Amino acid sequence: MKPYRPPSDPHPVREKFATARKELSSALIEREDEVDLVLTALIANEHVLLVGPPGCGKSLLLDAVMNWMNARKFSILLTKFTCVEEVMGPVSLAALKGDRYRRVTTGRLPEAEVCFIDEIWKASSAILNTLLKVLNERVFENDGEAVKVPLKLCVAASNEWPSPDSGKELTALLDRFLFRKSVRSIGSQVGRQRLLWHRDHTPKLSTTITSAEVEHAHREVTAVPWSRAAREALETILRELSREGVVPGDRRQFKTVTAVQAFAFLNGADEVLPEHLEVAQHCLWDAHDDQPQKVAQVVAKVANPTGMRVSQLLIEVESVLSATDVRNLAEAAKAAAKLGEIDKQLSTLSGNGRVEKARLYLKDQLKKLKLASIEAV
Ligand SMILES: Nc1ncnc2c1ncn2[C@@H]1O[C@H](COP(=O)(O)OP(=O)(O)O)[C@@H](O)[C@H]1O
Ligand SMILES: [Mg+2]
Repeated sequence: MKPYRPPSDPHPVREKFATARKELSSALIEREDEVDLVLTALIANEHVLLVGPPGCGKSLLLDAVMNWMNARKFSILLTKFTCVEEVMGPVSLAALKGDRYRRVTTGRLPEAEVCFIDEIWKASSAILNTLLKVLNERVFENDGEAVKVPLKLCVAASNEWPSPDSGKELTALLDRFLFRKSVRSIGSQVGRQRLLWHRDHTPKLSTTITSAEVEHAHREVTAVPWSRAAREALETILRELSREGVVPGDRRQFKTVTAVQAFAFLNGADEVLPEHLEVAQHCLWDAHDDQPQKVAQVVAKVANPTGMRVSQLLIEVESVLSATDVRNLAEAAKAAAKLGEIDKQLSTLSGNGRVEKARLYLKDQLKKLKLASIEAV
């Protein structure tokens, strides 16, 4: 006899996302935000770009998400020598004989449902132009014919941002990514120890997800209602940003609405709350130099998302720890008091799994601090 299953599990796909989110975040060190961003992009049907120094786990994360997906995939590491054929497919010799210039796209980007483009700014002008169309219009011109591509998600990585004077094409491509984030190296001492003394950080995912399931999730996402408070918060954020001189384009603003719904869905919420605007910090800027920070500040001030406050408090924890000589009893006592103060602030937050994790971490650090100063005596 088959085991009994309840007749309808309301959110089986959502559960898969929740599980993958947990498994990715626990394997990768200090990459919770990046994991959230990539999964949100996937259910929002948008593209995501991660920019950070070499070796900070970008490929580890993006490869893991690609592997999670049971879909047609395409991955490539671009160099300045990469030619269009490698990305879009070789020109068909049979067609050439008939004076046609048609590409054989089997196994290449035009047939992929999900793609990973590493070192994206290395793309040649010819590749950039085709990429722009594929990413934005989801269309590929083959022998004069506009072919619809099945692409759902493009994840891209790079070690640097394109410079503002690097040309229109790069700026246009940068704009095709709704979600864009700088990735930092591991910041905490505990994180660094984990990096050093665990030999395998590859995420092991217990599920896979199909394109049909992603589509299903996307449909649910677009139906998540916005609470009045969240609507007002988004409007306030845009107003305040404009006062600061940050005016994201209309398309970006429009798409941010679905992005925030997707993040609410990922968080298991049934309506969009101001809290979920946290993810909009990665959508609502144009220039990468000083704007992301401004946007983060405005979002934090207006929507007050728990996740952002936890991150800020954790940065404070690290700066207290790194400035403290534990063998100096007075210093250690002062640090312990400061950590206690931060914990008090954390205890007022709720509704986000990161709060508990942060508090456990803090408790652990306090214990270590006390032990170290006892040993010093
Ligand atoms: N945040 C992290 N969590 C776990 N492992 C990491 C992290 N950052 C770097 N590593 C380790 O360093 C290796 C290189 O990371 P990789 O993803 O190739 O970097 P990138 O693509 O950013 O250049 C990984 O395979 C992993 O072993
Ligand atoms: Mg890499």
